[in-house]
Amino acid sequence: MIFKSSTKAVPEASSVPRHVAIIMDGNGRWATRRMLPRVAGHVKGVDAVREIVEACVDRGIGYLTLFAFSSENWRRPEEEVSLLMRLFVTALEREVAKMHANDICLKVVGDLSRFDAKLREMIANAERRTANNTRLTLTVCANYGGRWDIMQASSKMVAAHPGVTEFTEEMLAEHLAMAYAPEPDLFIRTGGEERISNFLLWQLAYSELYFTDTFWPDFSPASLDQAIVSYQSRERRFGRTGDQVAGKK
Ligand code: IPE
Ligand code: IPE
Ligand code: MG
Repeated sequence: MIFKSSTKAVPEASSVPRHVAIIMDGNGRWATRRMLPRVAGHVKGVDAVREIVEACVDRGIGYLTLFAFSSENWRRPEEEVSLLMRLFVTALEREVAKMHANDICLKVVGDLSRFDAKLREMIANAERRTANNTRLTLTVCANYGGRWDIMQASSKMVAAHPGVTEFTEEMLAEHLAMAYAPEPDLFIRTGGEERISNFLLWQLAYSELYFTDTFWPDFSPASLDQAIVSYQSRERRFGRTGDQVAGKK
């Protein structure tokens, strides 16, 4: 299914966000505050992922997208990078069967070519196994960057239309890594920083942004509910006036 672009048509309003996208930040600081190694924060962060995935299912959210590893995170110490990769492998080993049983469709998007063959194969198997599930689409962004996504989509678009020099938004959007999902309604970043850090640059055009100081390992279903309450208090105008949104004109 191809979803309408927020810049081309006003999306339907929904009180529960259809798509929530989260930058899970603050694992390292969570650990450091407890005099623990940073890795302890990442380990605890996986528990938070499990809880939030369940909470999204319970709340009827259709799409949850989690930023797990950015294209810039390779700049971290080698030890931390390899630990994050191992955690990813373990999480896949442990969680995929349960996801499948809960009707969750798993997608991993990003430039996977930099991951080792074993991890790539595990990802492909998990995606294949859960492909027909419909309750929640869980996307894990791994070695993902918003600029990478726009560039890879541009290359595919140009290749798909030989000789064409004029393009439309739709022609590009269909090649974005997450073309299977509507644009995020609600963007959440934990950990106190108020920046996008090269996450979904194209798709966040009209998302409601929510920032919280809570570190990711402490982000609970109650924290998610606070973000949803904030989302519900927003007037999503998509360029129109408040009166138009209220149906007065
Ligand atoms: C987010 O937490 C997890 C990843 C980027 C993999 P951080 O590791 O960035 O934690 P802080 O920001 O250093 O506290
Ligand atoms: C963003 O967090 C990426 C992920 C959560 C995976 P970072 O901690 O890497 O972002 P910066 O470096 O503070 O912008
Ligand atoms: Mg960080």
